[in-house]
Amino acid sequence: MAEDRNLILAFESSCDETSVAVIENGNKILSNIVATQIKSHKRFGGVVPEVASRHHIEQVTYCIDDALCEANVDYDDLDAVVVTYGPGLVGSLLVGVTAAKTVAYAHDLPLVPVNHMAGHIYAARFAGELHFPALALLVSGGHTELVYLSGPYDFKIIGETRDDACGEAYDKVGRVLGLTYPAGKQIDEMAHKGHDTFHFPRAMEKEDNFDFSFSGLKSAFINTVHHADQIGEKLDENDLAASFQQSVVDVLAEKTIRCLKEFPVKQLILAGGVAANQGLRTRLDEELQAFDDVELIKAPLKLCGDNAAMIGAAGYEAYLAGIRGGLDLNADPSLEFDWI
Ligand code: KG4
Ligand code: ZN
Repeated sequence: MAEDRNLILAFESSCDETSVAVIENGNKILSNIVATQIKSHKRFGGVVPEVASRHHIEQVTYCIDDALCEANVDYDDLDAVVVTYGPGLVGSLLVGVTAAKTVAYAHDLPLVPVNHMAGHIYAARFAGELHFPALALLVSGGHTELVYLSGPYDFKIIGETRDDACGEAYDKVGRVLGLTYPAGKQIDEMAHKGHDTFHFPRAMEKEDNFDFSFSGLKSAFINTVHHADQIGEKLDENDLAASFQQSVVDVLAEKTIRCLKEFPVKQLILAGGVAANQGLRTRLDEELQAFDDVELIKAPLKLCGDNAAMIGAAGYEAYLAGIRGGLDLNADPSLEFDWI
């Protein structure tokens, strides 16, 4: 490596995006190739694991070539290979892990395992420097968590969903409205044209903990739509979307603000696929005005969904911390989030 330049080749394949990125010094994206499979999964209304693995196998070598080419670097320029090894779909993870191990072995590079959730948090690194201690609100298709970071490498979950993840709830209610998967962005757009006329429940909002629950809200939404269908009533879909979103945003904001009061931090990090939600971004902007000494740092919109750049940013910290994987590194579909 050039003395002042650290170059990392990052892999992400935990779900339905095959992605390879080249990251310089942990904070500069030289390339971030994302091959999405959404079209293939849409007709099934969700990700089909076997279909996902096959797509990853087809795409991964093209993604590596494109990432290196776009970054204008060669294997010899690299300092490390980093890869998501969990949590996620096992067949999908295995493709990225195997590709990363192959590159590391063939080019004698250190291999660094990265937790996918740490990657989501580090997407915010591209919006600005992270300062610790920090609190992260991590909202994605598979996770809804409040995570306390006492340092760049020290994670502690202080609240999580007891049932559906937030993005999962968006996708499930979207299905009832006949929207295609993934429905989060569409519901977000509809919500801005409607009003909270249904007043769906805000589960656990006032409970004395930092956990979440979205299955009651999902059921209330589905029951409302089915009941209207049965009696032949036409409901305003924008109002349904707005009411659903208001309930989600109220609960997320309320718990996050309470958490900030209990755990003083320098930054609040908003990350994960659902962090792209405009209602949530605006609400946290407003709420954070009451906190003079807490900076809100939001993952850039383009990096909220799964991508290898965020894995590269987290992997850079893991690399500096000396974390290494051997050639026996395996995918861990249920990897816990207590370390990277
Ligand atoms: O982080 P991500 O790309 O994949 C996982 O690791 O799960 O998150 C995907 C999730 C999907 O459930 C999708 O519907 C949701 O993020 N999503 C949104 C928005 N954009 C994506 N949810 C609400 N509002 C959005 N604007
Ligand atoms: Zn993800």
